Amino acid sequence: MQKLNVMAVFGTRPEAIKMAPLVLELNRRPELNCQVCLTAQHREMLDSVMQCFGITADYDLDIMQQRQTLSDVTARVLHGMEDVLRTAQPDLVLVHGDTTTTFSAALSAFYAGVPVGHVEAGLRTGDIRSPFPEEMNRLLVARLAELHFAPTRRNADNLRREGVTENVYVTGNTVIDAMAYTIGDGTFSSPELQQIDFTRRVITMTCHRRENYGAPMHSIFSAVRALSEAFPNVEVVYPVHLSPTVRQAAHEELDGRPNIHLIEPLDVFDMHRLMARSYFIMTDSGGLQEEAPALGKPVLVLRRETERPEAVEAGTVRLAGVDRDEVLHLAAQLLTDEALYAGMAHAVNPYGDGHACARIADAIAWHFGKSSTPPEEFL
Ligand code: UD1
Ligand code: UDP
Repeated sequence: MQKLNVMAVFGTRPEAIKMAPLVLELNRRPELNCQVCLTAQHREMLDSVMQCFGITADYDLDIMQQRQTLSDVTARVLHGMEDVLRTAQPDLVLVHGDTTTTFSAALSAFYAGVPVGHVEAGLRTGDIRSPFPEEMNRLLVARLAELHFAPTRRNADNLRREGVTENVYVTGNTVIDAMAYTIGDGTFSSPELQQIDFTRRVITMTCHRRENYGAPMHSIFSAVRALSEAFPNVEVVYPVHLSPTVRQAAHEELDGRPNIHLIEPLDVFDMHRLMARSYFIMTDSGGLQEEAPALGKPVLVLRRETERPEAVEAGTVRLAGVDRDEVLHLAAQLLTDEALYAGMAHAVNPYGDGHACARIADAIAWHFGKSSTPPEEFL
Protein backbone atom coordinates (compact mmCIF):
# COMPACT_ATOMS: atom_id res chain seq x y z
CA MET A 1 0.00 0.00 0.00
CA GLN A 2 1.29 3.44 -0.89
CA LYS A 3 1.91 5.50 2.22
CA LEU A 4 -0.02 8.69 2.87
CA ASN A 5 2.40 11.61 3.09
CA VAL A 6 1.59 13.80 6.06
CA MET A 7 3.47 17.00 6.84
CA ALA A 8 3.37 18.38 10.38
CA VAL A 9 4.10 22.13 10.44
CA PHE A 10 4.86 23.86 13.71
CA GLY A 11 6.96 26.70 15.05
CA THR A 12 6.58 27.48 18.75
CA ARG A 13 7.38 25.58 21.94
CA PRO A 14 3.83 24.52 22.83
CA GLU A 15 3.04 23.38 19.29
CA ALA A 16 6.21 21.27 19.28
CA ILE A 17 5.45 19.68 22.67
CA LYS A 18 1.96 18.73 21.50
CA MET A 19 2.94 17.64 17.97
CA ALA A 20 6.04 15.63 18.89
CA PRO A 21 4.20 12.55 20.19
CA LEU A 22 1.93 12.71 17.15
CA VAL A 23 4.87 12.76 14.72
CA LEU A 24 6.31 9.73 16.52
CA GLU A 25 2.93 7.93 16.40
CA LEU A 26 2.33 8.67 12.71
CA ASN A 27 5.76 7.33 11.80
CA ARG A 28 5.04 4.11 13.67
CA ARG A 29 2.11 3.42 11.30
CA PRO A 30 2.98 1.37 8.20
CA GLU A 31 0.39 3.23 6.11
CA LEU A 32 1.55 6.73 7.08
CA ASN A 33 4.69 8.80 6.70
CA CYS A 34 5.14 12.08 8.56
CA GLN A 35 7.60 14.78 7.57
CA VAL A 36 8.27 17.77 9.80
CA CYS A 37 8.45 21.37 8.66
CA LEU A 38 9.51 23.87 11.30
CA THR A 39 8.67 27.51 10.79
CA ALA A 40 10.92 28.27 13.79
CA GLN A 41 8.72 31.15 14.90
CA HIS A 42 10.61 30.24 18.10
CA ARG A 43 14.21 29.12 17.75
CA GLU A 44 15.92 28.06 21.00
CA MET A 45 12.69 27.06 22.75
CA LEU A 46 11.66 24.97 19.74
CA ASP A 47 15.04 23.29 19.30
CA SER A 48 14.97 22.26 22.94
CA VAL A 49 11.72 20.31 22.39
CA MET A 50 13.03 18.69 19.20
CA GLN A 51 16.06 17.50 21.11
CA CYS A 52 14.01 16.14 24.01
CA PHE A 53 11.82 14.04 21.70
CA GLY A 54 14.65 13.09 19.33
CA ILE A 55 12.86 14.49 16.27
CA THR A 56 14.67 16.06 13.32
CA ALA A 57 13.18 18.48 10.83
CA ASP A 58 12.85 17.77 7.12
CA TYR A 59 12.37 21.48 6.40
CA ASP A 60 13.19 24.52 8.53
CA LEU A 61 12.05 28.01 7.51
CA ASP A 62 14.11 29.54 10.34
CA ILE A 63 11.99 32.71 10.40
CA MET A 64 12.44 33.98 13.98
CA GLN A 65 13.55 37.58 14.48
CA GLN A 66 13.97 39.47 17.73
CA ARG A 67 10.78 41.35 18.66
CA GLN A 68 9.02 40.03 15.54
CA THR A 69 5.59 41.42 14.77
CA LEU A 70 2.55 39.35 13.86
CA SER A 71 2.85 40.54 10.26
CA ASP A 72 6.52 39.52 10.15
CA VAL A 73 5.64 35.98 11.22
CA THR A 74 2.61 35.69 8.93
CA ALA A 75 4.44 36.91 5.83
CA ARG A 76 7.59 34.89 6.42
CA VAL A 77 5.67 31.65 6.99
CA LEU A 78 3.48 32.15 3.91
CA HIS A 79 6.48 32.89 1.76
CA GLY A 80 8.57 30.00 3.07
CA MET A 81 5.78 27.41 2.94
CA GLU A 82 5.11 27.96 -0.75
CA ASP A 83 8.43 26.39 -1.77
CA VAL A 84 8.24 23.63 0.83
CA LEU A 85 4.77 22.53 -0.30
CA ARG A 86 5.80 22.65 -3.95
CA THR A 87 8.81 20.43 -3.22
CA ALA A 88 7.29 18.01 -0.71
CA GLN A 89 3.80 17.63 -2.24
CA PRO A 90 2.20 16.28 0.98
CA ASP A 91 -1.25 14.65 0.95
CA LEU A 92 -2.15 16.37 4.23
CA VAL A 93 -0.75 19.25 6.28
CA LEU A 94 -1.22 19.10 10.04
CA VAL A 95 -1.16 22.28 12.09
CA HIS A 96 -1.65 22.71 15.82
CA GLY A 97 -3.58 25.14 17.98
CA ASP A 98 -3.76 28.87 17.50
CA THR A 99 -0.42 30.54 16.90
CA THR A 100 0.44 32.72 13.93
CA THR A 101 2.42 29.77 12.53
CA THR A 102 -0.77 27.69 12.75
CA PHE A 103 -2.83 30.19 10.81
CA SER A 104 -0.22 31.02 8.17
CA ALA A 105 0.73 27.39 7.55
CA ALA A 106 -2.93 26.45 7.17
CA LEU A 107 -3.46 29.32 4.74
CA SER A 108 -0.37 28.27 2.73
CA ALA A 109 -1.67 24.72 2.47
CA PHE A 110 -5.07 26.00 1.40
CA TYR A 111 -3.45 28.12 -1.33
CA ALA A 112 -1.51 25.04 -2.49
CA GLY A 113 -4.67 22.92 -2.54
CA VAL A 114 -3.44 20.60 0.21
CA PRO A 115 -6.01 19.46 2.82
CA VAL A 116 -5.39 20.72 6.35
CA GLY A 117 -5.86 18.78 9.60
CA HIS A 118 -6.23 20.94 12.70
CA VAL A 119 -4.97 19.43 15.93
CA GLU A 120 -6.40 21.01 19.12
CA ALA A 121 -9.41 22.37 17.25
CA GLY A 122 -12.46 24.06 18.74
CA LEU A 123 -11.07 25.88 21.79
CA ARG A 124 -12.90 29.18 22.19
CA THR A 125 -13.29 32.05 24.62
CA GLY A 126 -15.92 33.72 22.45
CA ASP A 127 -14.00 37.00 22.47
CA ILE A 128 -12.08 37.60 19.25
CA ARG A 129 -9.75 40.03 21.05
CA SER A 130 -8.75 37.67 23.86
CA PRO A 131 -6.53 35.80 23.73
CA PHE A 132 -5.03 37.99 21.03
CA PRO A 133 -4.43 37.00 18.29
CA GLU A 134 -5.02 33.34 19.13
CA GLU A 135 -8.84 33.35 19.21
CA MET A 136 -8.93 34.76 15.67
CA ASN A 137 -6.20 32.38 14.49
CA ARG A 138 -8.16 29.31 15.59
CA LEU A 139 -11.45 30.63 14.17
CA LEU A 140 -9.78 31.16 10.80
CA VAL A 141 -8.08 27.75 10.86
CA ALA A 142 -11.46 26.11 11.48
CA ARG A 143 -12.60 27.57 8.13
CA LEU A 144 -9.43 26.43 6.35
CA ALA A 145 -9.25 22.89 7.72
CA GLU A 146 -10.81 19.72 6.34
CA LEU A 147 -10.15 17.57 9.42
CA HIS A 148 -10.73 18.82 12.97
CA PHE A 149 -9.20 17.03 15.96
CA ALA A 150 -11.04 18.41 18.98
CA PRO A 151 -9.53 17.52 22.37
CA THR A 152 -12.89 17.47 24.21
CA ARG A 153 -16.58 17.13 23.42
CA ARG A 154 -17.06 20.75 24.41
CA ASN A 155 -14.49 21.77 21.79
CA ALA A 156 -16.39 19.74 19.15
CA ASP A 157 -19.64 21.43 20.21
CA ASN A 158 -17.99 24.85 19.76
CA LEU A 159 -17.15 23.88 16.19
CA ARG A 160 -20.67 22.61 15.49
CA ARG A 161 -22.12 25.91 16.69
CA GLU A 162 -20.03 27.60 14.02
CA GLY A 163 -21.35 25.22 11.36
CA VAL A 164 -18.27 22.98 11.30
CA THR A 165 -19.91 19.55 11.43
CA GLU A 166 -17.98 17.35 8.99
CA ASN A 167 -14.87 15.37 9.95
CA VAL A 168 -14.80 16.48 13.58
CA TYR A 169 -13.09 13.89 15.81
CA VAL A 170 -12.95 14.06 19.61
CA THR A 171 -9.49 12.78 20.44
CA GLY A 172 -8.23 14.10 23.78
CA ASN A 173 -5.29 16.47 23.94
CA THR A 174 -1.90 15.24 22.75
CA VAL A 175 -0.23 17.08 25.65
CA ILE A 176 -1.32 14.24 27.93
CA ASP A 177 0.39 11.81 25.51
CA ALA A 178 3.52 14.00 25.69
CA MET A 179 3.61 13.64 29.48
CA ALA A 180 4.18 9.90 29.13
CA TYR A 181 7.60 10.78 27.66
CA THR A 182 8.57 13.59 30.02
CA ILE A 183 7.87 12.79 33.66
CA GLY A 184 10.32 9.84 33.81
CA ASP A 185 12.19 9.41 37.08
CA GLY A 186 11.66 13.06 38.04
CA THR A 187 15.33 14.05 38.15
CA PHE A 188 16.33 17.52 36.94
CA SER A 189 19.07 18.29 34.45
CA SER A 190 18.90 22.08 34.98
CA PRO A 191 21.59 23.26 37.44
CA GLU A 192 19.26 26.14 38.39
CA LEU A 193 16.58 23.71 39.53
CA GLN A 194 19.13 21.71 41.50
CA GLN A 195 19.68 24.86 43.63
CA ILE A 196 16.01 25.16 44.67
CA ASP A 197 15.05 24.06 48.19
CA PHE A 198 12.24 21.59 47.56
CA THR A 199 11.78 20.95 51.29
CA ARG A 200 9.89 24.26 51.12
CA ARG A 201 6.65 24.86 49.24
CA VAL A 202 7.43 25.79 45.63
CA ILE A 203 5.15 27.83 43.39
CA THR A 204 5.90 27.49 39.69
CA MET A 205 4.85 30.44 37.60
CA THR A 206 4.93 31.42 33.93
CA CYS A 207 3.60 34.55 32.26
CA HIS A 208 4.13 35.53 28.65
CA ARG A 209 0.92 36.26 26.75
CA ARG A 210 0.64 39.24 24.44
CA GLU A 211 -2.67 40.39 25.94
CA ASN A 212 -0.89 40.62 29.32
CA TYR A 213 1.94 42.83 27.99
CA GLY A 214 2.14 46.17 29.81
CA ALA A 215 -0.12 46.98 32.75
CA PRO A 216 -1.59 43.48 33.39
CA MET A 217 1.86 41.88 33.47
CA HIS A 218 3.16 44.53 35.86
CA SER A 219 0.14 44.04 38.08
CA ILE A 220 0.67 40.24 38.14
CA PHE A 221 4.38 40.63 38.93
CA SER A 222 3.62 43.13 41.67
CA ALA A 223 1.26 40.57 43.26
CA VAL A 224 3.95 37.87 43.07
CA ARG A 225 6.54 40.16 44.66
CA ALA A 226 4.14 40.99 47.50
CA LEU A 227 3.39 37.27 47.92
CA SER A 228 7.09 36.47 48.22
CA GLU A 229 7.44 39.13 50.94
CA ALA A 230 4.41 37.88 52.87
CA PHE A 231 5.59 34.23 52.65
CA PRO A 232 9.40 34.28 52.87
CA ASN A 233 9.53 30.47 53.29
CA VAL A 234 7.83 29.82 49.98
CA GLU A 235 9.98 29.61 46.84
CA VAL A 236 8.69 31.03 43.54
CA VAL A 237 10.29 29.51 40.44
CA TYR A 238 9.70 31.35 37.18
CA PRO A 239 11.36 30.08 33.98
CA VAL A 240 11.17 33.29 31.99
CA HIS A 241 10.08 33.14 28.34
CA LEU A 242 12.70 34.45 25.88
CA SER A 243 10.48 37.32 24.66
CA PRO A 244 12.45 40.52 25.37
CA THR A 245 9.23 42.29 26.41
CA VAL A 246 8.52 39.65 29.04
CA ARG A 247 12.10 39.45 30.27
CA GLN A 248 12.36 43.18 30.77
CA ALA A 249 9.12 43.37 32.77
CA ALA A 250 9.98 40.29 34.86
CA HIS A 251 13.42 41.57 35.83
CA GLU A 252 12.17 45.07 36.54
CA GLU A 253 9.51 43.83 38.97
CA LEU A 254 10.92 40.63 40.43
CA ASP A 255 14.70 40.98 40.71
CA GLY A 256 16.26 41.15 44.15
CA ARG A 257 13.91 38.86 46.08
CA PRO A 258 15.79 35.89 47.58
CA ASN A 259 12.79 33.56 47.25
CA ILE A 260 11.93 34.45 43.64
CA HIS A 261 14.01 32.51 41.13
CA LEU A 262 13.95 33.92 37.60
CA ILE A 263 15.54 31.15 35.60
CA GLU A 264 16.07 30.36 31.92
CA PRO A 265 13.37 28.44 30.00
CA LEU A 266 13.47 24.79 31.00
CA ASP A 267 13.47 21.86 28.67
CA VAL A 268 10.10 20.15 28.74
CA PHE A 269 11.36 17.20 30.81
CA ASP A 270 12.52 19.52 33.60
CA MET A 271 9.41 21.67 33.27
CA HIS A 272 6.98 18.81 33.79
CA ARG A 273 9.12 17.45 36.63
CA LEU A 274 9.18 20.88 38.26
CA MET A 275 5.40 21.11 38.05
CA ALA A 276 5.09 17.64 39.56
CA ARG A 277 7.16 18.79 42.57
CA SER A 278 5.41 22.15 43.01
CA TYR A 279 2.77 23.09 45.56
CA PHE A 280 0.72 25.00 43.00
CA ILE A 281 1.03 26.79 39.66
CA MET A 282 0.37 30.40 38.63
CA THR A 283 0.25 30.86 34.87
CA ASP A 284 -1.24 32.55 31.84
CA SER A 285 -0.08 29.66 29.63
CA GLY A 286 -2.54 27.40 27.86
CA GLY A 287 -0.49 24.23 28.13
CA LEU A 288 0.10 24.47 31.87
CA GLN A 289 -3.66 24.64 32.46
CA GLU A 290 -3.92 21.20 30.87
CA GLU A 291 -0.82 19.61 32.40
CA ALA A 292 -1.17 20.72 36.02
CA PRO A 293 -4.61 19.13 36.62
CA ALA A 294 -3.23 15.81 35.36
CA LEU A 295 -0.50 16.14 38.02
CA GLY A 296 -2.98 17.04 40.78
CA LYS A 297 -1.60 20.58 41.10
CA PRO A 298 -3.93 23.54 41.67
CA VAL A 299 -3.66 26.33 39.11
CA LEU A 300 -4.35 30.06 39.35
CA VAL A 301 -4.87 31.32 35.80
CA LEU A 302 -3.47 34.81 35.33
CA ARG A 303 -6.02 35.84 32.72
CA ARG A 304 -9.55 37.19 32.62
CA GLU A 305 -10.96 34.25 30.65
CA THR A 306 -9.98 30.80 29.54
CA GLU A 307 -10.73 28.62 26.54
CA ARG A 308 -10.15 25.64 28.83
CA PRO A 309 -13.10 25.68 31.25
CA GLU A 310 -13.11 21.91 31.84
CA ALA A 311 -10.59 21.99 34.71
CA VAL A 312 -12.25 25.10 36.20
CA GLU A 313 -15.45 23.07 36.37
CA ALA A 314 -13.54 20.11 37.82
CA GLY A 315 -12.38 22.44 40.62
CA THR A 316 -8.60 22.28 40.11
CA VAL A 317 -8.18 25.56 38.20
CA ARG A 318 -9.32 29.04 39.25
CA LEU A 319 -9.45 32.14 37.08
CA ALA A 320 -7.47 34.64 39.12
CA GLY A 321 -7.58 37.48 36.58
CA VAL A 322 -4.84 40.10 36.44
CA ASP A 323 -5.77 42.45 39.28
CA ARG A 324 -2.88 42.73 41.76
CA ASP A 325 -4.94 42.45 44.95
CA GLU A 326 -7.11 39.61 43.66
CA VAL A 327 -4.12 37.54 42.48
CA LEU A 328 -2.35 38.14 45.79
CA HIS A 329 -5.47 37.26 47.78
CA LEU A 330 -6.13 33.99 45.92
CA ALA A 331 -2.49 32.87 46.08
CA ALA A 332 -2.28 33.70 49.82
CA GLN A 333 -5.52 31.78 50.39
CA LEU A 334 -4.08 28.69 48.67
CA LEU A 335 -1.04 28.90 50.95
CA THR A 336 -3.04 29.27 54.16
CA ASP A 337 -6.37 27.48 53.70
CA GLU A 338 -5.64 23.74 53.79
CA ALA A 339 -9.20 22.71 52.99
CA LEU A 340 -9.29 24.96 49.94
CA TYR A 341 -5.93 23.59 48.82
CA ALA A 342 -7.01 19.97 49.33
CA GLY A 343 -10.20 20.62 47.34
CA MET A 344 -8.16 21.80 44.36
CA ALA A 345 -5.27 19.34 44.57
CA HIS A 346 -6.87 16.24 43.11
CA ALA A 347 -5.72 14.81 39.81
CA VAL A 348 -8.25 15.11 36.99
CA ASN A 349 -7.82 14.42 33.31
CA PRO A 350 -10.57 16.25 31.44
CA TYR A 351 -8.15 16.91 28.56
CA GLY A 352 -7.02 13.45 27.62
CA ASP A 353 -6.13 9.87 28.47
CA GLY A 354 -2.79 9.54 26.70
CA HIS A 355 -4.28 8.04 23.50
CA ALA A 356 -4.99 11.22 21.53
CA CYS A 357 -2.21 10.61 19.00
CA ALA A 358 -3.43 7.09 18.25
CA ARG A 359 -6.96 8.42 17.68
CA ILE A 360 -5.68 11.14 15.35
CA ALA A 361 -3.60 8.62 13.39
CA ASP A 362 -6.63 6.29 13.18
CA ALA A 363 -8.83 9.16 11.96
CA ILE A 364 -6.33 10.19 9.29
CA ALA A 365 -5.94 6.61 8.03
CA TRP A 366 -9.72 6.18 7.95
CA HIS A 367 -10.43 9.51 6.27
CA PHE A 368 -7.95 8.82 3.46
CA GLY A 369 -9.10 5.23 2.92
CA LYS A 370 -6.00 3.61 4.42
CA SER A 371 -8.05 1.81 7.06
CA SER A 372 -11.63 0.55 7.29
CA THR A 373 -11.94 1.13 11.06
CA PRO A 374 -13.27 4.49 12.24
CA PRO A 375 -11.45 5.98 15.23
CA GLU A 376 -12.89 5.66 18.72
CA GLU A 377 -13.79 8.92 20.43
CA PHE A 378 -12.32 10.26 23.68
CA LEU A 379 -15.26 10.38 26.08
C1 UD1 B 1 3.88 32.75 20.61
C2 UD1 B 1 2.41 32.58 20.22
C3 UD1 B 1 1.56 32.30 21.46
C4 UD1 B 1 2.10 31.16 22.28
C5 UD1 B 1 3.58 31.40 22.58
C6 UD1 B 1 4.15 30.20 23.28
C7 UD1 B 1 1.62 33.92 18.35
C8 UD1 B 1 1.03 35.20 17.93
N1 UD1 B 1 1.92 33.81 19.63
O1 UD1 B 1 3.96 33.93 21.39
O2 UD1 B 1 0.25 31.97 21.03
O3 UD1 B 1 1.38 31.08 23.48
O4 UD1 B 1 4.29 31.62 21.35
O5 UD1 B 1 5.33 30.52 23.94
O6 UD1 B 1 1.83 33.07 17.53
N2 UD1 B 1 12.15 34.45 21.34
C9 UD1 B 1 13.46 34.05 21.31
N3 UD1 B 1 13.73 32.71 21.24
C10 UD1 B 1 12.76 31.76 21.25
C11 UD1 B 1 11.42 32.18 21.30
C12 UD1 B 1 11.12 33.52 21.33
O7 UD1 B 1 14.37 34.87 21.31
O8 UD1 B 1 13.07 30.57 21.20
C13 UD1 B 1 11.84 35.90 21.39
C14 UD1 B 1 12.06 36.63 20.05
O9 UD1 B 1 12.56 37.91 20.31
C15 UD1 B 1 10.64 36.76 19.50
C16 UD1 B 1 9.85 36.94 20.78
O10 UD1 B 1 10.47 36.07 21.72
O11 UD1 B 1 10.52 37.82 18.61
C17 UD1 B 1 8.37 36.66 20.71
O12 UD1 B 1 8.12 35.44 20.06
P1 UD1 B 1 6.70 35.22 19.29
O13 UD1 B 1 6.64 33.83 18.77
O14 UD1 B 1 6.49 36.31 18.31
O15 UD1 B 1 5.63 35.47 20.41
P2 UD1 B 1 5.32 34.67 21.74
O16 UD1 B 1 4.96 35.66 22.77
O17 UD1 B 1 6.40 33.70 22.00
N1 UDP C 1 7.30 24.79 29.14
C1 UDP C 1 8.61 24.33 29.06
N2 UDP C 1 9.60 25.08 29.62
C2 UDP C 1 9.37 26.26 30.23
C3 UDP C 1 8.03 26.74 30.29
C4 UDP C 1 7.02 25.99 29.72
O1 UDP C 1 8.85 23.25 28.53
O2 UDP C 1 10.33 26.87 30.71
C5 UDP C 1 6.22 23.99 28.53
C6 UDP C 1 4.99 23.79 29.37
O3 UDP C 1 5.10 22.65 30.22
C7 UDP C 1 3.92 23.60 28.32
C8 UDP C 1 4.37 24.52 27.21
O4 UDP C 1 5.77 24.73 27.41
O5 UDP C 1 3.93 22.28 27.80
C9 UDP C 1 3.63 25.80 27.27
O6 UDP C 1 4.24 26.71 26.42
P1 UDP C 1 4.00 28.26 26.55
O7 UDP C 1 3.66 28.60 27.94
O8 UDP C 1 5.18 28.89 25.91
O9 UDP C 1 2.76 28.49 25.55
P2 UDP C 1 1.19 28.37 25.70
O10 UDP C 1 0.84 27.06 26.28
O11 UDP C 1 0.73 29.51 26.53
O12 UDP C 1 0.72 28.55 24.30
